[in-house]
Amino acid sequence: GDGGDGTPPRLSFDAIATSRQDAVVVPEGYTAKAFVPWGTPILGSYPAYMDDGGNTGADQSMQVGMHHDGMHFFPLEGSSEHGLLVMNHEYVDQITLHPNGPSEGPRPLDEVRKEMAAHGVSVIEVQKSSNGDWEVVPSALNRRINAFTVMALRGPARGHDLVKTAFSPEGTRTRGTINNCANGFTPWGTYLTCEENWPGYFHVRMDPQPRHLARYGVTGWQGYHWYDVLDEDSDLYTRFQPSESGDDATQDFRNEPNGFGWIVEIDPHDPDAMPIKRTALGRFSHEGVVFAEPKVGEPMVFYSGDDARFEYIYKFVSKNLYQEGMTGNDLMDEGILYVARFNDDGSGEWLPLSMGDDGFVAKMNAAVGTTVGSIEFDEPFADQGELLINTRLAADIAGATRMDRPEWGAVCPRTGMVYFTLTNNSNRTEDDTDAANPRAANQVGQIIRWQEDGAASASTFQWDLFALGGHLEGSEQEGRSLVADAALTAENIFSCPDGLWFDGRGLLWIQTDMSGSMQDGSSDHGDFGNNQMLVAEPDTGLIKRFLVGPTECEVTGITMTPDHKTLFVNIQHPGDRSEPGDFTSHWPDGGSSRPRSSTVVVTRDDGGEIGIA
Ligand code: FEO
Ligand code: CA
Ligand code: CA
Ligand code: CA
Repeated sequence: GDGGDGTPPRLSFDAIATSRQDAVVVPEGYTAKAFVPWGTPILGSYPAYMDDGGNTGADQSMQVGMHHDGMHFFPLEGSSEHGLLVMNHEYVDQITLHPNGPSEGPRPLDEVRKEMAAHGVSVIEVQKSSNGDWEVVPSALNRRINAFTVMALRGPARGHDLVKTAFSPEGTRTRGTINNCANGFTPWGTYLTCEENWPGYFHVRMDPQPRHLARYGVTGWQGYHWYDVLDEDSDLYTRFQPSESGDDATQDFRNEPNGFGWIVEIDPHDPDAMPIKRTALGRFSHEGVVFAEPKVGEPMVFYSGDDARFEYIYKFVSKNLYQEGMTGNDLMDEGILYVARFNDDGSGEWLPLSMGDDGFVAKMNAAVGTTVGSIEFDEPFADQGELLINTRLAADIAGATRMDRPEWGAVCPRTGMVYFTLTNNSNRTEDDTDAANPRAANQVGQIIRWQEDGAASASTFQWDLFALGGHLEGSEQEGRSLVADAALTAENIFSCPDGLWFDGRGLLWIQTDMSGSMQDGSSDHGDFGNNQMLVAEPDTGLIKRFLVGPTECEVTGITMTPDHKTLFVNIQHPGDRSEPGDFTSHWPDGGSSRPRSSTVVVTRDDGGEIGIA
């Protein structure tokens, strides 16, 4: 079956072994080439990439950003050889970004400019050249969106008192997007970028922190100190150290962090279009976002995970019913946000987070005067805008299931089943396990899936586990394909599933992110090799390892051309444990070069479709 005749696709390559090479490894008969690495010029004066870290902040604003993550290929006129490649740049590694790492003490202005410019999103027109290699097209559509870019707020939190700042006293705008991890896209041709670990950028000077900050742990742990710029006190930078200057929130930046934690919609086909933060989809550490296949006359449905330990999986159901020609303003500003409860018997429920829902309001009113998690819930939410700014707290009140770090989701084009990675949770205790999160001190993660009871907008579902990450058979945390009812083998053991994506034929791609000491083989993760990408037949549960990345990278971000003959994959933070001048990876440029996050173009040497016969 090739997916064209109605039968499920069947994998046709030989699985590769784990690897510790500083290289991208793919199966026999396939070729992988680096493309648009960090620093590639795409705009303006097209400043050349400098391997000594010498590019300025202004240069960086015209170059591809750092730490490639979620990505989508938008074909131009349906082409599989010409399109817009749009990708996230999650964060920066200061050691490889600057010539000798970050300066000590107050930050030189241009270091901060470069770090902020290396964040965000790249829109790049790309095409396949006559020799078969892909190239950047010098195009008016090429664009960098970064931590400076002005964005609109829409949905129920637009204009709310809690988003008013000295920059936007009306509460309708904010500046920049940061920590853009996984992505999404829409049926109407726009790109969605998701704000994940934004609490790490704000050094809040309010003690105690209000609940809309305290519940998110807004502690500045990324350590960039963008507010602390030498001889510069522009609010472009000082806003990252919010405090209260008096009674009037429109005179300071106490609410600046409330402009982050959202899903951002970008029109890649219009370089002048202002990005829009869609507050109706909730505020949390959005990993990614994925839609259920739209059906005319039914609500539009999006799923999104909150990647932190013991956080939740959410579903947004639009108020308006989908019709051809509708866009984000029709389908992403009004609707109901739900949070998932996974019951131990395999059933599940979507719990509404809505001031218009009597059940939610009753739970909220009962919670007033109690401690919810670690938060003193001293007064009810005033309105839906405040509820959404406090999405995590609302989900706590609703009684959702606390998950093992929800990362990417994917919807099967054949069955409509929704799959999510749960990457790991070392803090889960034996007393706290449940059927969906079954392992204590979970180092290896699992993949969960569900089928809605009827339409995608249904309020109940049936779930099971698709696979358990883990080691070879006999280990305490053994890997297992639960669909195949078989232990994982040397061909497919994996740990810390993160990226997850269905291609158009119905193959499920799984990307891993073992972090920190898990990457170097010194821990008990040595048997997994470098981070990798596998692919599964969802109906049989067969899983095969397809790609292994270079030293200390994470494999994340995936998209394909419509003909399934070109696969784009992102390699993030190769050489993650480098020190200034001592790079632990030299991928992709080789020699003594500094490592660069990069896209990889994978093709089959015989020109055939990726993965299948
Ligand atoms: Fe940025 Fe949850 O990975
Ligand atoms: Ca991720
Ligand atoms: Ca991750
Ligand atoms: Ca990452």
